[in-house]
Amino acid sequence: MDIKALPIVTLRELRMEDVEDRYRWSLDKEVTKHLNLPDTYPPFTKEETAKWIEMCINKTNGYEQKAIITEDGTHIGWVDLKNIDTFNKHAELGIAIGDRNHWGKGYGQSAMMAMLEYGFTTLALNKIWLRVEVDNEQAIKSYQRTGYVDEGILRQDRYRDGEYVDRLRMSILKHEFENILKEMGLAERG
Ligand SMILES: CC(C)(COP(=O)(O)OP(=O)(O)OC[C@H]1O[C@@H](n2cnc3c(N)ncnc32)[C@H](O)[C@@H]1OP(=O)(O)O)[C@@H](O)C(=O)NCCC(=O)NCCS
Repeated sequence: MDIKALPIVTLRELRMEDVEDRYRWSLDKEVTKHLNLPDTYPPFTKEETAKWIEMCINKTNGYEQKAIITEDGTHIGWVDLKNIDTFNKHAELGIAIGDRNHWGKGYGQSAMMAMLEYGFTTLALNKIWLRVEVDNEQAIKSYQRTGYVDEGILRQDRYRDGEYVDRLRMSILKHEFENILKEMGLAERG
């Protein structure tokens, strides 16, 4: 996919009315297969979902979580930064497109770019990293396309459906992201 052809998305703060979408997505096993939240796994009850959203809004859980909105205003997922280390200037990123109709069309990459911009400029981070299960091919492809590089395998890092699964740790540095933006600018001029 050409990076210039990415769909436009915006990130906005979460709202309590997001609970309905988030609850629906948490019941979709295809969406949640590779997801876990601190100390718990989907599906969540509507009450648990509301509690989580409230914590994100009030910023009491250490998450900078934002809603992903398409150009026509549709709420399709979320993206967040957590484990924010302000001394070493890095943070862990998480992302999900909850509406499967929007998978594989570049929305993940586009939302990722928007969150990287936020992390590297507003939060002044130097590195953004993530952990992805080794069999989550779609996510790995999306991250590679964005410019993430491998940092190594975290062995048996997740206990999923009764078995341990390896996770790949990937990251992108601020100067690498800036180079990508420059390349995009050059490509547009050229
Ligand atoms: C991971 C996720 C955010 C990626 O977003 P997305 O919008 O679907 O991804 P993109 O369109 O940006 O890129 C997906 C890439 O995977 C490819 N792809 C699509 N379906 C695929 C599949 N079933 N298997 C492998 N690759 C696939 C696409 O072709 C694209 O690669 P390309 O650009 O080289 O063609 C999204 O799929 C998702 O929310 N999945 C469920 C939750 C999840 O796993 N989150 C990540 C946890 S680490």
